[in-house]
Amino acid sequence: MIVLDEKNRVFTLHTRSTTYQMKADRHQVLLHTYYGPRTEGGDLSYYIRSADRGFSPNPSEAGRDRAYSLDTLPQEYSGCGVGDFRTPALELEPADGSRAADLRYKSHKRRKGKYALPGLPAFFGGEEEWETLSVTLTDEAAGAEVELLYGVLEERDLITRAVRITNQGEKPLSVCRAASLNLDFFSPGELDLVTFDGCHIMERSVNRTPLHPGVHSVGSVRGTSSHHHNPFVILCQREAGEDSGLCYGAALLYSGNFEAAVEVTRTGNDRLTLGINPYHFRFVLAPGESFVTPEAALVCSPNGFGQMSRQFHRAIRENLLRDPWAGKRKPVLINNWEATEFNFDAELLVGIARSAAGLGMEMFVMDDGWFGNRNTDYSSLGDWQVDQKKLPGGLEALVPRIQKLGMTFGLWVEPEMVSEDSDLYRAHPDWALGIPGRAQTLGRSQMVLDFSRREVRDHIYGELRKVLDSAEIAYVKWDMNRSLTDVWSSALPPERQGEVYHRFVLGLYEMLERLRTDYPHILVEGCSGGGGRFDAGMLYYTPQIWCSDNTDAIDRLRIQYGTSFCYPVGTMGAHVSAVPNGQTGRSVPIRTRGVVAMCGTFGYEMDLRNCTEEEKTVVREQTETFKARWRLIQEGDYYRLTDPFREGPYTAWEQVSEDRREALVSVVMGTVHGALPFLTVKAKGLDPQASYRINGSTDRYTGEMLMNIGIPLPVPEGDYQSAQLYLEAR
Ligand code: DGJ
Repeated sequence: MIVLDEKNRVFTLHTRSTTYQMKADRHQVLLHTYYGPRTEGGDLSYYIRSADRGFSPNPSEAGRDRAYSLDTLPQEYSGCGVGDFRTPALELEPADGSRAADLRYKSHKRRKGKYALPGLPAFFGGEEEWETLSVTLTDEAAGAEVELLYGVLEERDLITRAVRITNQGEKPLSVCRAASLNLDFFSPGELDLVTFDGCHIMERSVNRTPLHPGVHSVGSVRGTSSHHHNPFVILCQREAGEDSGLCYGAALLYSGNFEAAVEVTRTGNDRLTLGINPYHFRFVLAPGESFVTPEAALVCSPNGFGQMSRQFHRAIRENLLRDPWAGKRKPVLINNWEATEFNFDAELLVGIARSAAGLGMEMFVMDDGWFGNRNTDYSSLGDWQVDQKKLPGGLEALVPRIQKLGMTFGLWVEPEMVSEDSDLYRAHPDWALGIPGRAQTLGRSQMVLDFSRREVRDHIYGELRKVLDSAEIAYVKWDMNRSLTDVWSSALPPERQGEVYHRFVLGLYEMLERLRTDYPHILVEGCSGGGGRFDAGMLYYTPQIWCSDNTDAIDRLRIQYGTSFCYPVGTMGAHVSAVPNGQTGRSVPIRTRGVVAMCGTFGYEMDLRNCTEEEKTVVREQTETFKARWRLIQEGDYYRLTDPFREGPYTAWEQVSEDRREALVSVVMGTVHGALPFLTVKAKGLDPQASYRINGSTDRYTGEMLMNIGIPLPVPEGDYQSAQLYLEAR
C-alpha cells in the first residue's frame, strides 16, 4: 500500500511486513527516511539528525545552516559534485564537460498496477497486485529530469525500483553513472554484507563480511553478470541468520556489467548502490531522449534469510518467469554433452536417447557440435547449418527418430558468438567486437558478435529460425562461453562507445524476446559456461538456467545452496552425470546424485547404457519420484536446514507445500568415519499440530516433534550417502 502525506510530502510504501519511506524536505531534497520492519508511524524523519560536520559542505539554500549537508543526510537518489562525497547514484556530464548531479523534488504520482520497462526485464503482475509510485526530481542546471519508479508487491514484501533520466536541455547530456537503486541507512558498525562469488565451475559461494568504513563492492566488467560475482547481495544485522534477524536482499535484473557497492562512513551515514557498472559506461542523450536503468528489486525480512529467500522465490516464480510450462511438470531431459562432447553422430544420439526413454526420460537435448564443422571448440560458431556428415538429412531426419521413442527434442545454440574459423567471420570480420589497431583477444578461441547492431542480430536470428523451423523443437539451450573484451562497435561514433556494453545487453534481450514471441511453446534454458549469467534479468527470458558446468553432486550442494538465496529451485538447471565426475574426479553414489539434481530442474547428462542394472533401477525410481513430487520440489516453500560451507556431518534442505501437509527433507552425508554418532535432522515450516508419516510408514509424529526433536537419519554405510524423507500429514 502506498500512503501519501501530501502536506508534509512524505511518501510511504507498505508491504505485508515492511515499510519504506521518503520525504521531500524544506530544500526540496528527497530524503530517505526509513526501510525496515513494518511501522504505522507517520513521518519517520524525526530520527534523522544533522550536525555541523567538518568538511561537509552546505548547499546555497541552507544559508548559514552548516548542519544541513547532502554529505550527511540520507538521500533517496544521490547525486555528485555538489557536496555529497559518498558513492553517487547519478553522474551527469552536460555539454560543458562539468560533472555533477543535484536533484530536487518536483512532483509525484501514484497509480494501481506496475510500471513497465520496454526492452528490459521487469517484474509484472495484475493491476490489483501492484501499486506504482513515481517521483520526479530535476537538476535544472544540467537540464535533466529524473523519474524514480517504485513498484510495490505487498504480499511478497517486494519493492522494485528503476530510474528514467531525460535530457530536457538543448544540448547533448551524458549519463556517466546511473544506479538502479540507492539505499542510504544509519547503521554505525552494525551490518554485514553477504555476496555470492566464485568462478567457472564453482559459482555463488556465500561470503559474509562485517562492514567497516570504506567502500566494499562486488561487480562485473566482463559484459555478463559473470561466474565471479552475482547481481544479488544481502545487507544484514550482524546477528541475522536463517530464521531470525533483519536482512535486506537486493537483486538487479540485469545480465551485463554491474556494481553493488556499500559505503560505510565513520559517522554511520551509509549507502548501498546497485546498478550498471560505471566502467566504460557513458550514455549520450540527445535533447528529449531518455535513459532507463535496469530494474532492481528489494526484499526486507525481519525474520532472517529464509523468509527473504522464500519471498524472492515466490515473486520470481509468479511475477518474473514467463515459463511456457508454468504450473505444469516439465519433461525430464537427457542431454548428451558430458557423454559425447563433440564426438557423436545420429546413431550414437539415438542410442543414448533410446536408453533414456526406457528409464523414464521424456526429452532429448542435442548439445554443442551439431553444426558447421564443429568437431572441436576451435571452429564454426556463427555457421548455424546442420553438419550433414554427423547428422545426414539434418534435423528433419533426426527429430522424428527421437519422437518415435516418445521423446521431444531440444537443441543447444550459442548465438552471441563467432569462431575465427567460420564462414561468418570470413564474410563479416567487423561483426565481431574488436578495437581497430589492436589484435583480437580470444576466449575459448571465439569472439563476441556485436549484438548492439541490428543487422548482426537479424542475420543470426534468421539463421536460427531456419533451424528451428526445420523440425519440431521443444527446448533451446542458449549458451554463451566467454567474457566480453575489445568492446568497440564499428557502428557507433567515438563519443558513443561507452554505450556498447549496455547496447549489447539490450540486443541480447531483444533477440530473446523475439524468440519468445515467435516460438512461445519453446522452453529456453539460459547458460553461460554453466552459471556465468545466472541473474534475475536472464530469468525473465529464460525461466531456467544451467547452474554450473560442475555436475559433481558434492560441489553442487554449495553451488545450489548459494544460488538459493535469491533464485528458486525450479530455475536451477541440475543434471545427474556420470562418475568419476569430469570436473572433480569424485565418485558419488547415483542415489545421491539424483537427490541433488532434484533440488533443481532435474535431468540426466550421461550415457545411460553404461549403467549397471542396479543403477538403472535407481534411475527409474528417481524419474518416478520426481514426476510424483515435482510440484512440492519446485513450487514448495524452500528451507535451508544446514550450511554446506560449514563443517558438519551432512547438508540438508527441505521443501514444504503451501498447506504444510507435505514436505520433502533431503539429506546428503559427507565422508564416513568409524563409530559415527547417530544423527538427526530437524525439519522446518511444518504445522506443529499436524501428524506426519515419514516415507509412508505407519508411525506418525507431530510437526512439533519433527521440528524440535528431529528425524533420525540412517547410519551411512559409505561416503556421500543420502536420504529423501517424504513427510505427509493426510
Ligand atoms: C558450456 C555449457 O555450460 C555446457 O553445458 C555445454 O553446453 C558446453 N558449453 C558446450 O560447448
